Amino acid sequence: MDKLRIKGGNRLEGEIRVSGSKNSALPAMAAALLTSDEVILQNVPFVNDAFTTRRLLRELGMTVEFSDDHSARLHVPKILSFEAPYDLVKTMRASVLVLGPLLARTGRARVSLPGGCAIGARPINLHIAALQQLGATVRTEHGYVEAIAERLNGAEVLFDKITVTGTENLLMAATLAEGRTVLQNSACEPEVVDLANMLSKMGARIEGAGTSTITIDGVPELRGTTHRVIPDRIEGGTFLIAGAITNGNLDIVDANPAHLGSVIQKLREAGAKIETDGSRMSVRPGGDLRAANVVTKEYPGFATDMQAQYMALMTQAAGTSIINENIFENRFMHASELMRMGADIRIDGSRAIVTGKTQLSGATVIASDLRASASLVIAGLVADGSTLIDRVYHLDRGYEKIEEKLRSVGAQIERLK
Ligand code: EPZ
Repeated sequence: MDKLRIKGGNRLEGEIRVSGSKNSALPAMAAALLTSDEVILQNVPFVNDAFTTRRLLRELGMTVEFSDDHSARLHVPKILSFEAPYDLVKTMRASVLVLGPLLARTGRARVSLPGGCAIGARPINLHIAALQQLGATVRTEHGYVEAIAERLNGAEVLFDKITVTGTENLLMAATLAEGRTVLQNSACEPEVVDLANMLSKMGARIEGAGTSTITIDGVPELRGTTHRVIPDRIEGGTFLIAGAITNGNLDIVDANPAHLGSVIQKLREAGAKIETDGSRMSVRPGGDLRAANVVTKEYPGFATDMQAQYMALMTQAAGTSIINENIFENRFMHASELMRMGADIRIDGSRAIVTGKTQLSGATVIASDLRASASLVIAGLVADGSTLIDRVYHLDRGYEKIEEKLRSVGAQIERLK
């Protein structure tokens, strides 16, 4: 298993590019199941979750070709299988995103239940309940969700809880349903809006994406399209924090600062010097980091996918900050690894109390999930001596060549194969 070794102490300086959004590319790839025409996606991030999705879609009968210019050609004139097998789903929960499109296109879907992951139980009961409201017969047995529907019927759906992939699954399913679907308490994430924009270009009739009420009028079929995936706001936010913690002078390009409103606001409150200009975000030196409390919320609130990276920053801020994790019940796995590096953190249920500033020292640490591994990289950039991060396969799931990007702006980081 690959490891990353980081020697701390360098300021990050220069220009670093944000890749396309993982959490937008995955549903966009699944949406290609909805049409027999070819779909072209641009700005696709070459991260392991995109490669796993490619494998899954190929198993369903789709041709999927990635090109060096980060574009992807996806085409499935005829769906040959409606099963998303356990072997693939267990490696990537987002595989559940084929459930809605498969059901809508073929009237049938068999998808392995994702099971829990490091950050929480993460059930898909809300996806299933909503599909049942659209008239699907759904049963769960032998670890699989089996769903059948001759044709889905539009309906009023009220999500008990805001769910990103749940909203995306139903958005895709409803595009080919008979009649009107209204999704209430929907997720408003930029990735949901990006998917709705793509589906609209395919001929879907959607209103209200980006608000908590989305209306979809079903159509008989969808056509192909070309769609550019939005920038990855979580990768962009990760670079903002890497710049701020190293007192760096960093320009982050091909980003969309508007998608990081609450994160940028919080970082400024914590003393970071951040400028934005179009698709460019910059961190300037001289920020005086100070403690600032945060609560993770659904968009447009502070993203839970930025919480771990923010915790690393707060270890270098003067004062005591309280981090409330409201979305996932077990998303503090990185805290104990940061404590191994000398951080002063106390966990109290869904709250983490971080006292800074403490000098971190390099150590061997283990990544437990995607964003936890990003926080360990950030901590390694300022730690005294070398940090060795194990299980970086977690990082590779959602960050494209992160060590090369960070090295290009001055980090001392290398991958040990
Ligand atoms: C998406 O996961 C993202 N993944 C996650 O990013 C992100 O953390 C999460 O949204 C929240 O922003 C992708 O887009 C591929 P949810 P998702 O359904 O859709 C509960 C990353 O680091 N819930 O919005 O799976 C659930 O347990 C990843 O890139 C139910 O109870 O998250 C959680 O507590 C990690 N029943 C809450 O809702 C359901 O049926 C929000 O989960 C569905 C969700």
